[in-house]
Amino acid sequence: IDQPNVITCKAMVAWEAGKDLVMEEVEVSPPQPLEIRVKVICTSLCRTDITAWESQVPFLLLSFHGMLYQIWALKSLVDCRLYFLGYSAMKHQGQIVESVGEGVTEFVKGDHVLTVFTGECKTCKHCESKKSNMCQVLGLERRGVMHSDQGTRFSVKGKPVYHYCAVSSFSEYTVVHSGCAVKVSPQAPLEKICLLSCGVAAGLGAAWNVADISKGSIVVIFGLGTVGLAVAQGAKLRGASQIIGVDINPEKYEKAKCFGVTDFLNPNEYNEPIQQVIKRISGGGTDYSFECIGNTGMVTTALQSCCDGWGLTVMLGVPKTNPEIASHYSAFLSGKTLKGSLFGGWKPKSDLPSLVNKYMNREIQVDEFITHNLPFEDINKAFTLMREGKCLRCVIHM
Ligand code: APR
Repeated sequence: IDQPNVITCKAMVAWEAGKDLVMEEVEVSPPQPLEIRVKVICTSLCRTDITAWESQVPFLLLSFHGMLYQIWALKSLVDCRLYFLGYSAMKHQGQIVESVGEGVTEFVKGDHVLTVFTGECKTCKHCESKKSNMCQVLGLERRGVMHSDQGTRFSVKGKPVYHYCAVSSFSEYTVVHSGCAVKVSPQAPLEKICLLSCGVAAGLGAAWNVADISKGSIVVIFGLGTVGLAVAQGAKLRGASQIIGVDINPEKYEKAKCFGVTDFLNPNEYNEPIQQVIKRISGGGTDYSFECIGNTGMVTTALQSCCDGWGLTVMLGVPKTNPEIASHYSAFLSGKTLKGSLFGGWKPKSDLPSLVNKYMNREIQVDEFITHNLPFEDINKAFTLMREGKCLRCVIHM
């Protein structure tokens, strides 16, 4: 049997937080036990990647997202670790297995996979419970090293490069734990379904798994980026009667209509707090509210916008600053609930294949989130588009 060798390939490196990424040659080690090495076909980036990249605080990065996908160096870190971002889908990736490590029985060379920022070991208390997708073994990885030996599989010019959110897809090849990869049908187009490894799944799952929206409900969504519009799509498919979208960017409304948003509110056009407007047009408050911006002040606003008795607020955003949430205790005494969610409550291995099937059966829209496609070398343009609010998702083709 051929033993896999080190692969030298191209990767986009962020030598400094907030600065353009630079294409570099990177060495990718063979997969260790229970790991797989994959050829990245396409990837994407999401707001969490931007938040992490701008903020220089790697621990905020979570996510998600299998989406961040670049190699990232943070000068501010004492040990100058380099990170491959890429989660979003944490983030978004479509990949093909190149080689497998010892003990991997689930994948063979050539399998199509989605890689995800939060894994599923299938044996821990959370994986065994129907109530949680917070795998205790392969959950949100924030230290930039592989689970098995706390080591890294990347190096640039002899320096170790650390992983980002278990995915690190801004590289032609990457190594992930086999528990952070989901086998998908080779018939499913990777350049589309890669979005299901992060924000689109997170939004749909928040609507279906976390909130469990019922028919005829009134819903308000704060932030009409991909995450918020995926919530809108989920609400529409559940038969919500009114879907109110709140965004300060007026250009978001046209696109929002095709995902089911029925009423658009721009807080900058009102002289009163937006929660008052929402309460008025929803007959006393919505059944559900969703924070999809990453602004904890908006979590408070979202709580105030939903109705007493059963109003439920779901937070999906990842804040860049001010992580504390403020609320008057009376909101909870009067029956409101605040819930958080990571990756929409989906267990990646158990649940993502069914979402891919829904896409293949045209039961969910995914293509409509892709507003731009760019080659790998133009990844910096994708960062600019996202920061300027000009794109939903930009798929990067390797
Ligand atoms: N009020 C209303 N809307 C706002 C505000 C505000 N104060 N600030 C920003 N927005 C809008 C933006 O105009 C944008 O349309 O929120 C939307 C956010 O969308 P994206 O930046 O495209 O982010 P997205 O990828 O959808 O992620 C949303 O979820 O996963 C997390 O880290 C991610 O916190 C982020 C959130």
